[in-house]
Amino acid sequence: MQYKVLLINPNMSGLLDEEKELAARGLKIVAASNFDEALEYLKKDGTIHALLTEWELITEQRKARKISGREMINEFLKIRYDINIFLYTNERNAQKVLNGENLNGYFYKGDRDFDDIAVKIKAEFINSKFRAPFFEKLVEYSKKASDAWHTPGHASGYSVKNSPWMSDYFNFFGQNLFTSDISVSVPMLDSLLHPKGVIKDAQELAARAFGARRTFFSTNGTSTSNKILLQTLIKPGESVILDRNCHKSVHYGIIISGAEPIYLMPSVNNKYGIFGPVPKARIIETMDKAIEMSKKVKVLFLTNCTYDGLIYDIADIVKEAHKRGIKVIVDEAWFGYARFHYEFYPCAMASGADYATQSTHKTMSAFSQASMIHVNDPDFEQIEDFFMENLNMHTSTSPQYPMIASLDAARKQMALEGFTLLSRSLEMSESLTKAVNSLKKFRVLELKDLISDEIKNDRVRLDKTKLTIDVSQTGMTAREIEHILSNKYNIQIEKTTFNTISILITIGATQSKINRLYFALENIEKNSGNSAAQSKGKILNHFKLTLSPMRFRPRYAFFYCTGEKIMLKDAKERVSTAMIVPYPPGIPLLVPGQLITAEIIEILDFYRDYGVEIHGLNNGEISVMKSEEEEELTRRGINIKDVLF
Ligand SMILES: Cc1ncc(COP(=O)(O)O)c(C=O)c1O
Repeated sequence: MQYKVLLINPNMSGLLDEEKELAARGLKIVAASNFDEALEYLKKDGTIHALLTEWELITEQRKARKISGREMINEFLKIRYDINIFLYTNERNAQKVLNGENLNGYFYKGDRDFDDIAVKIKAEFINSKFRAPFFEKLVEYSKKASDAWHTPGHASGYSVKNSPWMSDYFNFFGQNLFTSDISVSVPMLDSLLHPKGVIKDAQELAARAFGARRTFFSTNGTSTSNKILLQTLIKPGESVILDRNCHKSVHYGIIISGAEPIYLMPSVNNKYGIFGPVPKARIIETMDKAIEMSKKVKVLFLTNCTYDGLIYDIADIVKEAHKRGIKVIVDEAWFGYARFHYEFYPCAMASGADYATQSTHKTMSAFSQASMIHVNDPDFEQIEDFFMENLNMHTSTSPQYPMIASLDAARKQMALEGFTLLSRSLEMSESLTKAVNSLKKFRVLELKDLISDEIKNDRVRLDKTKLTIDVSQTGMTAREIEHILSNKYNIQIEKTTFNTISILITIGATQSKINRLYFALENIEKNSGNSAAQSKGKILNHFKLTLSPMRFRPRYAFFYCTGEKIMLKDAKERVSTAMIVPYPPGIPLLVPGQLITAEIIEILDFYRDYGVEIHGLNNGEISVMKSEEEEELTRRGINIKDVLF
């Protein structure tokens, strides 16, 4: 274990001495003599975990200029939120330099107490990053090999390991998985549903790493995290403004909570079949209109970044929502790592959003289903008990302990080497982009290709670890390319649209994988002859999403109506009780309670003719509310009157 510290000393004389003293105490020192040099080190070297700095530094370019402590700390944090900053100064007067700054400690140079410095830096490193309390406890408990007289029934694998039939099950997963898959009857491992011990500790470390006031682990994916939050924050009849390109768990959260949804139409890139962020002006205008119409708007829900890596200028939007007294939830299912590299800053928590949900399993090293809920809401304490009740409602009483441990381990990894790993992913992205673009029939799309005109001025950015590759020149559909990659080259990609394939360059990417993908694409290009794709162009011009008014809150259409099945062609002016979702792009054209219009029928017909999979339609039939159900709900006054979408 190496504690690498960047020692910044405007006056380099004497530095060697300090370097020697601190190195003798187990710190690895790199030295910078001014502010700019220090910034360069931080940008390049992710293994630096602490800074020892004077309160004021000189900037190299403008030597005369001094950068004061406050500004300097802010600049360092812009590069690395996670860096531990210790003041090492000749300034005796603490009030002069310490004023609630974001500092982890203070050392007076005159003390020349190098033991103190080394011990404190190491302690801070261990306390804030290096520990993984739950994971460590689970390992410790597993090593005890206690006789298991409790659930689960496999009892550390004894039920299967000597079975003549089932030992393959045991051998595949291995002893450690069975031993660590223990029940909640083990007190030293705490309870996810009422954390007081090691899980609480692990959650606190996660809050610190991800920059939240509080963090909660969730073991049924961000699907469940979203539902827990919506159920907590919205009472039946209150409104939530949300992007229509949100995940389906959000629509379920709307059903469960009884909220009135006010949908925001995302920007659409028709050429590539990609939905982008909702235009900023539309978000603000919708919030204002809803308030004007006396809707009780409690929450703005946004997905950031989008599936295709488009990043909102989120801080600005959060500010606008807060001005209007609206809480902000950001679904960061695909963006949990944003806290750990300046390329992606600011993440939702750093932007002042109240809540963020993250699929730690999607982009970091946690096991599938492992998710986190981060809280920044200053009013959270008032609703914490209710939140915990909702978390309990949606969580198994037997959560899987290895999954919880994986959250703790994934957090530790990001805190220790997130910056380094993400820098590597970005480098790989750049090299793969160059390689792919050297081919004739494949092209990595840039920001300007991906965004549509309506968000051109919204300061949208692109997460370069998510690559969208245009395959339209190959003469094949993206699905065909996906099929070849999978069957011939054993390469599984993330998703397709009609004419693009997407890949994620996660922290698990390797140069070998990158090159194998490149070789596969090169071969596909070679084998595709001279044909260029013309035939598929047609569909792209028609790719679209439309909204129609909500007639009833989704909860009522879903729970209170048995509905009836009719042919889609006969469903004009009826109200859907189902969620109808074409794949791709996976965004519902209809949700329960929404009016079926001629335009929507036309689009669905169009998709069907092109063989697009449509979830929710069975043999051309759609489930709609019976007329008497519509009448009954309208009589009871629970229809949506002032429609806004
Ligand atoms: C934007 C978004 N939110 C939430 C989820 C659900 O995440 P999980 O798979 O962790 O349940 C997904 C899954 O694809 C998603 O794309």
